[in-house]
Amino acid sequence: MTLDTLENLLVERDGAIATLTINRPKVLNALNTQTIDELGRALLAIKNDDGVRAVIVTGAGEKSFVAGADINELAAQTPIGGRELARRGQRVFDLIEHLGKPVIAAINGYALGGGCELALACTVRIAVDTARLGQPEINLGIMPGYGGSQRLSRLIGRGAALELLLTGDQISAADAYRLGLVNRVVTAANLMGEARKLALMLASKAPIAVRYILDAVNRGLEMPLPEALDFEATLFGLVAATDDMREGTKAFLEKRKAEFRGK
Ligand code: CAA
Repeated sequence: MTLDTLENLLVERDGAIATLTINRPKVLNALNTQTIDELGRALLAIKNDDGVRAVIVTGAGEKSFVAGADINELAAQTPIGGRELARRGQRVFDLIEHLGKPVIAAINGYALGGGCELALACTVRIAVDTARLGQPEINLGIMPGYGGSQRLSRLIGRGAALELLLTGDQISAADAYRLGLVNRVVTAANLMGEARKLALMLASKAPIAVRYILDAVNRGLEMPLPEALDFEATLFGLVAATDDMREGTKAFLEKRKAEFRGK
């Protein structure tokens, strides 16, 4: 990856795992335009790199994952600029959802507004027990623009989503877990270890099957059920063409661990 010039994003590579750390701790990792663009560049490089099989996204420092879009930029927003800003962020978060590899949000503190939306675009969310999550845009007289009104309601249901979106309340990690907004809650000391363990486990799976499962769920949910089932059947057929399918079934029958190669 040639990402040496990034200022607000740390990109680390450890074998098949890439870790992206939003790095503006002085403003609780608020997402300004530059940070969104850097995230987009890093994600594109990761998407095109077959060696990366799972990604972790987290925030620098101990206090915050991401405390939202940068309110300094929002305060000066024009109508046309606001729409563009939202579309730009949405495109980058769409890239996360359609990366073709699992992305784990390691939520190390505040995940508010755009921060909650970033976590929502990820495949799995693991939060520290002290994390606070929410969509406080309403308290600024605005609304979510990075997919929050759509992904939150799809993930936790219309009623719970509308309550969070309209009250702007911050909720605890435990409440987020109860709502299905986060998958797991861990202590701060265990956060990155748990995220890495899960990333390694997911990276060991057959990459083409992983990609198709992500596609079947993420794209399938946007289709009427009959089309989605047809889509699933097509992907099921396609995966039968892979070496990994032969290796997986053969390894089971030979009572050994499968070695998947992504072919
Ligand atoms: N944008 C810009 N700066 C931010 C920020 C944000 N979203 N969140 C925090 N900061 C800055 C603060 O202004 C402060 O800067 P200074 O030190 O220069 O004063 C610094 O980060 C530390 O923040 P606080 O002093 O406020 O820390 P705290 O511990 O008292 O409070 C907090 C923490 C509850 C997260 C509070 O900072 C907060 O409410 N932040 C804003 C959260 C928010 O409203 N997010 C939604 C943004 S809108 C959005 O995201 C729209 C969208 O969907 C696209």
